[in-house]
Amino acid sequence: MANFKEEIEKRRTFAVIAHPDGGKTTLTEKLLLFGGAIQVAGAVKSNKIKKSTTSDFMEIEKQRGISVATSVMGFNYRDCNINILDTPGHKDFAEDTYRTLTAVDSVIVVMDVAKGVEEQTKKLVEVCRMRDTPVIVFINKMDREGKDGFDLLDEIEDKLKLTTCPLSWPIGMGQTFKGVYNLYQKQLNLFSPNTKYGNILGFNDINSSELEKHIGDDAAEILREEVETIEGVYPSFDKEKYLTGKLSPVFFGSAVNNFGVKELLDCFIEIAPSPVNFKTEERVIDPYEDKFSGFVFKIHANMDPRHRDRIAFLRVCSGTFQRNTNYLHVRKDKKIKFSNPTTFMASKKEVVENAYPGDIVGLYDSGNFKIGDTLTEGEILHFKGIPSFSPEQFKYIENADPMKSKQLAKGIRQLMDEGVAQLFTKNTNNRKIIGTVGQLQFEVLQYRLKHEYGASCRYEPINLHKACWITSQNETKLSEFIRKKANYMAKDKEGRDVYLAESRWMLESAQTDYPELEFHFTSEF
Ligand code: G4P
Repeated sequence: MANFKEEIEKRRTFAVIAHPDGGKTTLTEKLLLFGGAIQVAGAVKSNKIKKSTTSDFMEIEKQRGISVATSVMGFNYRDCNINILDTPGHKDFAEDTYRTLTAVDSVIVVMDVAKGVEEQTKKLVEVCRMRDTPVIVFINKMDREGKDGFDLLDEIEDKLKLTTCPLSWPIGMGQTFKGVYNLYQKQLNLFSPNTKYGNILGFNDINSSELEKHIGDDAAEILREEVETIEGVYPSFDKEKYLTGKLSPVFFGSAVNNFGVKELLDCFIEIAPSPVNFKTEERVIDPYEDKFSGFVFKIHANMDPRHRDRIAFLRVCSGTFQRNTNYLHVRKDKKIKFSNPTTFMASKKEVVENAYPGDIVGLYDSGNFKIGDTLTEGEILHFKGIPSFSPEQFKYIENADPMKSKQLAKGIRQLMDEGVAQLFTKNTNNRKIIGTVGQLQFEVLQYRLKHEYGASCRYEPINLHKACWITSQNETKLSEFIRKKANYMAKDKEGRDVYLAESRWMLESAQTDYPELEFHFTSEF
C-alpha cells in the first residue's frame, strides 16, 4: 500500500485539448488502450455535437449522456494513476472547457498537421497561459500531407506564444511518411500503420550509415540536416521550464494509426507534473498538506431520469478525501458528508473510500453546489481561477407558461449554478437576460428547462455587444455611472454590478469617460 506521498507522486491529471476534428477523441482513445482501460478501439465515442447548423436536441442529449461517462477517464499506466479530464469539443461550450482547465495539472494540445494552429486551440492555450499550465504539443495526422515541421513550430510560437522544443521529428509526411526520430530517447520509430507502436529501434548515432538502410538516402540526409538545425536553433529540453509553462515539448505522430502515441505517453508520465499547488484567496495550498481541501469545477445533471440529482465534480487539492466524513461546505457554512462518492476508472463509476490530490471525485448533489465551491476540513478557503467569462450573446428570457413560474425560477437558478449560461437582472425593470458564449447554450437551456423542470421559456432579442463587471474605489463616480447608464446596468447572480455595453464604441467611450472605473472581462477580479 503506497503511502500518502507516493499516492500523490504517481498521479497525473491532465486534459487533452484541440480544435474540433484535430484528433482529441482519437488520441484519448489510444491513450486509454495503452492503459488497458479499454480493450478495443471505438469504445470512446466522440463527444462532439456534429457541426450541423441547426442543432439537433437528441444530439445535445446524447452528448450530455456521453460526456458524463467520459468526463473523467482514469487509468493506470506503468506506475502512474492517470486522470484525463474530457472537454467538450464544441466552441459554444468553451466555458466548460475553461473551467475544466482550472482542475488539471497539465495539458496536451493536439493539432492537425495540415491545419496548424486553429482558433479554438488559440483560446484554450490562452487560458493555460493564464495559469502557466505545462503544455505538450502533439502534431497529429502525419500520415497526411500537411505543413512543414519548422513552419508549424513558428506558428505555435507566434500564435500560441509557446516556446517550443521538439522531442520527436517527422521523417517525411503523407505518402512519404516514414516515421519519427525520437530526439528525447534517441530512437528511430518506423511507421507502419495500425501496429501497436510502430517499429522502434534504438538509434543513438544519427550519423551512422545504418540510417540509410532504414529510411533511404534522401530521407536520411534531410533528417540529419533537420536534426542539426533543431539542435542549433531550439532550446534543449529543460524540465523546470516545462513545469513552469515556459517550454513546450512537441511530438509528431498519427493518433488514428496509433503512431507516436506511446512515445508521447512514456515521456508524459516521466515529465508531466504530479499534483501542483493551488491558489486560494487566503493562501497557497500544497497537495502534501494533511488536511483535505478541494473545489467543484463542473456540475452535471444526471442523465438517468429516475435520479434527478446532479453530479458535482470535485478536484482534490490536498490531503485525503474520505467517504462518510464530514466536510465544511465553505460557501454554505455547513457540514456535509458523502456516502457514495465515485471515481471514474476506465469511464466506469465506482464508489471510492479514499481519494488523493489530483483525483476527481463525483459527488451526488441535490442542489447544494455551485461551480467554484470549496470543501475543507474546517478552514475557510476560496479557490481562485474559476472565472466566468464576459458573455457575447444575449437574449431576454421570458416565462412562456405563467402556471410554471416557480419551476422556471428554480430551473434557471440551478442551471446557472451548473454554469450552463449566465444570468443578469436589469436594474430598471428586473427583466432577466441570459448571456452566453454561443447560440447552442440558449437551446440547451430552453430544452433542459422544459425536460428537467417542466418550465417553458421564450427568448426575446436584445442588442448588446458585451457584458462586463465594473468596480471602483471611487464610490461617487461608480454611483454616477450606474445612474447615468441605468438602462444598461444589471446585477449578476451574485448581485455584482454589470454594465451591458450596447456597442464596442459605447464600451470604449465609457472606459474613456470614466477612467476611475475598472471594467472587468472575467468575473474574477
Ligand atoms: P476531435 O475529437 O478532436 O474532434 O477529433 P477526432 O478524434 O474525432 O478526429 C477527427 C477526425 O480525424 C476523425 O475522422 C479521425 O478518424 C481523424 N483522425 C484522427 N487522427 C488521425 C490521424 O492520425 N490521421 C488521419 N488521417 N486521420 C485522423 P472522421 O472521418 O471525422 O471520423 P471517423 O468517422 O473516422 O471517426
